[in-house]
Amino acid sequence: MRNEDIAETFNLSGAAYEQSAPELINLAASELIKRLNLQADSDLVDLGCGPGAVIAHAAPLLTRGSAVGADLSRVQLELARDRFRRAVLAPRFIQEDAAATGLRDRSASAVSLGFVLPYAERPLLLLKEATRLTRLGGRVAATVIGSPFFGSAGTRLLGHLERRGVVRPDVEMRFDPREAVRLALLSENDERRLDDVTIEEIEREFWWDSFDDWWGMLDAFGFLPTDRERMIEAIAGELREDDRVVDPDGQVRCPVKIWLLSATVCEGDPWL
Ligand SMILES: C[S@@+](CC[C@H](N)C(=O)[O-])C[C@H]1O[C@@H](n2cnc3c(N)ncnc32)[C@H](O)[C@@H]1O
Repeated sequence: MRNEDIAETFNLSGAAYEQSAPELINLAASELIKRLNLQADSDLVDLGCGPGAVIAHAAPLLTRGSAVGADLSRVQLELARDRFRRAVLAPRFIQEDAAATGLRDRSASAVSLGFVLPYAERPLLLLKEATRLTRLGGRVAATVIGSPFFGSAGTRLLGHLERRGVVRPDVEMRFDPREAVRLALLSENDERRLDDVTIEEIEREFWWDSFDDWWGMLDAFGFLPTDRERMIEAIAGELREDDRVVDPDGQVRCPVKIWLLSATVCEGDPWL
């Protein structure tokens, strides 16, 4: 997605982004934080911070540390600032491209990327920026919603889109973990690189109380193709009637995979 479209999508989503999938967002944020080995005096940079869920999970650990959140969306940043208005930790929130922030080299002991990489046209640039910002020995971790995105419900949505000639939604719903590792290994910057690259998978079932809640979540995450409103309405109508998508009790249940990529920033030749 282009940066302008990302900003517009998440400006429009507003608070609905986090409200549409709080358990999923919180689980991913807490697992992400565990991979960062934060200490009381760590300096965390959260790239693509949205309304601040990742920093909220880090806050109790950072009793003497600092946090900066960067995001393209003005509205998400306002929500993040509101969230910490009365908090002990006073994070700084900046409206910048996570691929090229104005933050100083090696100013962080840890960098997080929560559900951000698939939105980028060139995710490698985000990983390179994370490497640039992180001090030697520091940690970088990223979460990505894995494939199949939302179990049979998501697969059926993709099938409808493909049959109508829309091969993929604007955001890459499928994500190949091998590709993520490959990008991480390429993300050298200023003679530093990501080492000990690990990829883990977490699978949980999440459910939405109604079809409209599930559909609203897809919209809030920017997973529905835009500029095709009539076609999308027709697809929603068909999916709403589909008992492989909506359970008899009206709920939509989805086994969701979360990929967790984590690495340590090192210096020197990888082959020595
Ligand atoms: C799905 S939300 C994730 C928010 C948060 N990290 C979380 O875990 O809940 C994706 C966020 O990344 C931001 N984003 C995507 N690409 C970005 C980029 N290149 N620079 C800054 N923010 C970006 C979007 O504006 C949006 O707020």
